[in-house]
Amino acid sequence: MVSFFAHFLFFTILLVFSFQPYSQHPLCRRDECLALLQFKESFVIDKHASFDDPFAYPKVNLWKSQGMDCCFWEGIWCDQDTGHVTGLDLSSSCLLGSINFNSSLFHLFHLEHLNLAFNNFNYSKIPSAFANLSSLSYLNLSNSLLAGQIPSELSRLTSLSTLDLAPNYNPFSPTKGWLELKRPNLRSLVENLTSLEYLRLTGTKINSKIPSTLANMSSLRYIRLGDCGLFGEFPMAIFQLPKLQVLTVTYNPGLTGNLPEFHFHNQLMILTVQNTSFSGKLPASIGMLSSLKVLNVSQCNFSGLLPSSLDLSHNKLNGMIPPCIGNFSKSLVSLNLQGNNFKGPIPPMWVTGNNLKMIQLGQNNLKGKLPRSLANCRMLEFLDLGNNHIRDTFPYWLGTLPRLKILILHFNKLYGAINVTESNSLFPSLHIVDLSHNEFVGLLPTKYFNAWSAMVDIDKENTKYWLTYDNCEISGYVFLNAYPYSMTIINKGLKMEYEKIIEIFSTIDLSCNKFEGEIPDVLGRLKGLQLLNLSNNILVGPIPPALGNLKNIETLDLSQNKLTGSIPTQLTQLNFLEVFNISHNHLTGPIPKGQQFDTFDNSSFDGNSGLCGLPLSRKCDNSKASPPPSSTSKGNEDSGLLAKFSWKTVALGYGCGFLVGVVIGNIVFATIREWLMRTYRIRLSRRKGKGSGRLNRIRMMQ
Ligand SMILES: *[C@@H]1O[C@H](CO)[C@@H](O)[C@H](O)[C@H]1NC(C)=O
Ligand SMILES: *[C@@H]1O[C@H](CO)[C@@H](O)[C@H](O)[C@H]1NC(C)=O
Ligand SMILES: *[C@@H]1O[C@H](CO)[C@@H](O)[C@H](O)[C@H]1NC(C)=O
Ligand SMILES: *[C@@H]1O[C@H](CO)[C@@H](O)[C@H](O)[C@H]1NC(C)=O
Ligand SMILES: *[C@@H]1O[C@H](CO)[C@@H](O)[C@H](O)[C@H]1NC(C)=O
Ligand SMILES: *[C@@H]1O[C@H](CO)[C@@H](O)[C@H](O)[C@H]1NC(C)=O
Ligand SMILES: *[C@@H]1O[C@H](CO)[C@@H](O)[C@H](O)[C@H]1NC(C)=O
Ligand SMILES: *[C@@H]1O[C@H](CO)[C@@H](O)[C@H](O)[C@H]1NC(C)=O
Ligand SMILES: *[C@@H]1O[C@H](CO)[C@@H](O)[C@H](O)[C@H]1NC(C)=O
Ligand SMILES: *[C@@H]1O[C@H](CO)[C@@H](O)[C@H](O)[C@H]1NC(C)=O
Ligand SMILES: *[C@@H]1O[C@H](CO)[C@@H](O)[C@H](O)[C@H]1NC(C)=O
Ligand SMILES: *[C@@H]1O[C@H](CO)[C@@H](O)[C@H](O)[C@H]1NC(C)=O
Repeated sequence: MVSFFAHFLFFTILLVFSFQPYSQHPLCRRDECLALLQFKESFVIDKHASFDDPFAYPKVNLWKSQGMDCCFWEGIWCDQDTGHVTGLDLSSSCLLGSINFNSSLFHLFHLEHLNLAFNNFNYSKIPSAFANLSSLSYLNLSNSLLAGQIPSELSRLTSLSTLDLAPNYNPFSPTKGWLELKRPNLRSLVENLTSLEYLRLTGTKINSKIPSTLANMSSLRYIRLGDCGLFGEFPMAIFQLPKLQVLTVTYNPGLTGNLPEFHFHNQLMILTVQNTSFSGKLPASIGMLSSLKVLNVSQCNFSGLLPSSLDLSHNKLNGMIPPCIGNFSKSLVSLNLQGNNFKGPIPPMWVTGNNLKMIQLGQNNLKGKLPRSLANCRMLEFLDLGNNHIRDTFPYWLGTLPRLKILILHFNKLYGAINVTESNSLFPSLHIVDLSHNEFVGLLPTKYFNAWSAMVDIDKENTKYWLTYDNCEISGYVFLNAYPYSMTIINKGLKMEYEKIIEIFSTIDLSCNKFEGEIPDVLGRLKGLQLLNLSNNILVGPIPPALGNLKNIETLDLSQNKLTGSIPTQLTQLNFLEVFNISHNHLTGPIPKGQQFDTFDNSSFDGNSGLCGLPLSRKCDNSKASPPPSSTSKGNEDSGLLAKFSWKTVALGYGCGFLVGVVIGNIVFATIREWLMRTYRIRLSRRKGKGSGRLNRIRMMQ
């Protein structure tokens, strides 16, 4: 009895063990196994074929070592019951060669999931035989250098939920090939693909309108149609797709459209329409979208009033700056509204205890007085209110700001004398001050010159840029952003865009005002100065020999004044002087020789009837000996580096600015519901200028 049971048990166990492998993993079908091997053989393995993916490796090379059952091969999975190959993922497998219409791939009739992304199919066409794979629900041929018209047969793959064909061009030779979707067009391709959730055709030449039928494909979650040559009106109904989370139609300059008011429960996470012709107002409800993480609307034509809860730079926004920004300014680190069309006064919205480090409101139509509450911005480092119509006296009361480094008030209607009253409020950290093109009168502010100690000593080794930092949180990730201050000023006679501002850059520009009196000696104290522009005033008296102490000066412009006397020979000690202009004064006597002075031409000296000597044609009276060349010819070696810096600032700024531009992007506007409701964080920015990556940004951060 016992023995019977023992035998029974033994056989049962034997049966279980011997059948288990078969019941769980039927061997793959011989024909499918052969088809796979044949498919493999139709390519050469080439490391460079998957150059876009640093982790690429030839999965197919492992196949033979992985046994006879293809269901165990890398990149393949089979149906548990039938053993049919249902999944093939050979993405990033270094495959080079074309996929032919007779490829054995198309014998894998049961494929549901096919990913051949990141290979090099040598600009071959997508064969119509894909239609044979009628069970496909996932087809990913992105980044695989396929080219030509997408076959109409793809539209028979009615089970498709994912179709990713993008981008299909070589970034290193983008003109060599690309996919087209003309006949069939987008409309007929997707007509019967009613299960589609993910559609990515970025970079495919579609060159048509967006079919309104897309709005009927209620399963769609992701639509990515950037750079497809789309034009015409974007069908608004697409915004109503119930599951839509990602909509990208960037770089279709012909595409017009508006953004609608969104429903509160809208699930949109990413909405990017930059470089299209989308226009109109930004809907106020955008600030309420609970899932929205990325909004990129730069390089469009949005205009109109700001929605109450969000702000943008360099669009065509107009109206008044909404005073509510002040309520957020405790959380703002920087606020950039420059280059819009804001009118009216700067609102008196700067609450005490705010954290603003940067305020850029330049290039608007702001009028009126400067709100005294600006002095509440105790953290302020950079204030640019230039190119507006502000009519007020000099804001000496900002002199109390302990960290203010850059003050740009140029091209306004500021008037009156610059009276220095409080001895303890003299802009202790100022490096860069530009008050040019205003209506200031009176004496030059000697007391300030005496106090601006940040311009006295500079550390030539310092190559750092002024940066500000903020951090933000998107979906649990914390991003630390560093972004440089940038400004546009006139230097060396040119309007220069500084995309980054090196910390040792010191400048004073008081040109184009009505300052009178003499140039004070104390200016000579500011040895760090690289730019001094006092041109176009009513200054009298001599050029102080003390200016010969400005050892780092590169630009010295005293033109268009009423200066008298001779040119101090001490100026020949200024070894880094590149642009020197004392034209249109009443200066007399010989022009010094030597050093930089041998490089200046007539235009530096024009309009002074009493000057003589080279480069002017008027010879000096020989009875008066011309001044000896300066004896100090030393000292140019070590500061030669510095002399080059302001040029480097420009060039380097472009280079680095570009990187930063790529990394931290343009109008990125990250909201998470809680931010809006509780903490309100928005960051917005934008790229401007010669494609050089100059960043102009608004940031509203907690
Ligand atoms: C790629 O295509 C070119 C031209 O069509 C052809 O000469 C070359 O042999 C192809 N390379 C491979 C690996 O198929
Ligand atoms: C497929 O067709 C091409 C060209 O017509 C031919 O060279 C190749 O041998 C064929 N391959 C198979 C597997 O039949
Ligand atoms: C695709 O299917 C058609 C008919 O359904 C057949 O004629 C053709 O041979 C198939 N192609 C391949 C590569 O199996
Ligand atoms: C397509 O495959 C590539 C490479 O595996 C992947 O990065 C991409 O996200 C895939 N696309 C979709 C829609 O899954
Ligand atoms: C879509 O399906 C309908 C009905 O099966 C068919 O008549 C039509 O031709 C199909 N459209 C395309 C573009 O294949
Ligand atoms: C969308 O579907 C509805 C109802 O099924 C139909 O009436 C309408 O014409 C369709 N719209 C488009 C643009 O195909
Ligand atoms: C984006 O738009 C800007 C301004 O319209 C243009 O200068 C730039 O070339 C565009 N970029 C691309 C990639 O189309
Ligand atoms: C913006 O609008 C202006 C006219 O208002 C037009 O000239 C310009 O082409 C538009 N730009 C874009 C990118 O749509
Ligand atoms: C700022 O907030 C206060 C209350 O916290 C509110 O009374 C005031 O109206 C707000 N101001 C603006 C301009 O939103
Ligand atoms: C500057 O001071 C002078 C006299 O001390 C006074 O007349 C003038 O009003 C003051 N100007 C400003 C703008 O405060
Ligand atoms: C000095 O300022 C005036 C007026 O803004 C400007 O025209 C000139 O080019 C500047 N000089 C230099 C050398 O930058
Ligand atoms: C926004 O669009 C610009 C191009 O206009 C692009 O450079 C930037 O990277 C985009 N930002 C994001 C986050 O997509």
